[in-house]
Amino acid sequence: MTGQTKQTVFSGVQPTGAMHLGGYLGAFRNWVALQDDDAYNVVYCIVDLHAMTVPYDPAEFHRARLETAKVVLALGIDPEKSLLYMQSQVPQHAELAWILSTLTPTGVLNRMTQYKDKLDKGIPSNLGLYSYPVLMAADILLFRADLVPVGDDQKQHLEMSRDLAARFNNRFGEVFPIPAPLIPETSARVMSLVDPAAKMSKSDPNPKNRVNLDDSPDVIRKKVKSAVTDSDPTVRYDTESKPGISNLLEIMSATTGRPIGDLAAEYETGGYGRFKEAVAEAIVAELAPIRAALQQLDDDDVARILQKGALDARTRAERLQQQVRDAVGLGRI
Ligand code: TYM
Repeated sequence: MTGQTKQTVFSGVQPTGAMHLGGYLGAFRNWVALQDDDAYNVVYCIVDLHAMTVPYDPAEFHRARLETAKVVLALGIDPEKSLLYMQSQVPQHAELAWILSTLTPTGVLNRMTQYKDKLDKGIPSNLGLYSYPVLMAADILLFRADLVPVGDDQKQHLEMSRDLAARFNNRFGEVFPIPAPLIPETSARVMSLVDPAAKMSKSDPNPKNRVNLDDSPDVIRKKVKSAVTDSDPTVRYDTESKPGISNLLEIMSATTGRPIGDLAAEYETGGYGRFKEAVAEAIVAELAPIRAALQQLDDDDVARILQKGALDARTRAERLQQQVRDAVGLGRI
């Protein structure tokens, strides 16, 4: 099959704090599966420009960008098969975001729930935070992506990317495919271990809310053991009255490949202690290869992979950039 007949996959991760089990089950597992499927041409990006929309420390940020790339590689992303690069090293993202911003009604941005949630959490408002989904649309459209593997929390942003692609095509002629989200059926929204009403998140100040992909087996066991549940000791899938247990059932189902119904039947009686131990062991087994791969990775090798990735990404982005410039009336004079 030639590159031209393949579908293009694009996705991104912010280098803000540790990558966790929620992102893994919601998105990163699909990143690896799509990379290993010959039908796709895959592009994965560490979206460092997005991460600058919330307060950060520059020295820590520098380190987190490299660490994130390392974890992505440890997941099994192979630079021979996937294009992996850092968003800030490809200036075409920012130019396309500007062009798309001129097609974005502010009323649409006012409705973005992630933006509103961030303000509710006390994150100071700024123009970058507000236009975050426009930059995300630019990421996806810059590679003319067909498919975007993400967790459930990115659904609304994906909708906006689709609308912007269609709006651009209507106004300036067919340039972009309309990108489709790829969201898993279970574990598209993994919840926090300390508050099962909130999603597992890297920005939660309580590290017990999440299992990080590089947590040791002992840390994983402790976090799962202390996961918030309820006082009725029956293991049953019921997201309304048993959100904590239901979350653990989803995690266990996603990590073992066994249906939730089977797991609920097996662990229904016998207490939460036994169930939680089984959940912890399932997570430990799933993450063991990632931890092992992380220990083999060398910072200099990772930096070299990112440099090569940036060169390739820029070459590809330049082609689209010229096409967009021509379409909008910014062609060479
Ligand atoms: P980010 O960095 O917050 O998360 C990376 C991916 O992990 C998914 N995810 C989850 N899935 C299930 N349960 C959870 N608790 C959970 N937490 C995170 C996210 O849905 C995401 O797929 N805006 C994006 C980054 C981005 C992007 C893009 C993604 C920028 N440009 C273009 C795709 C395409 C974000 O903040 O992801």
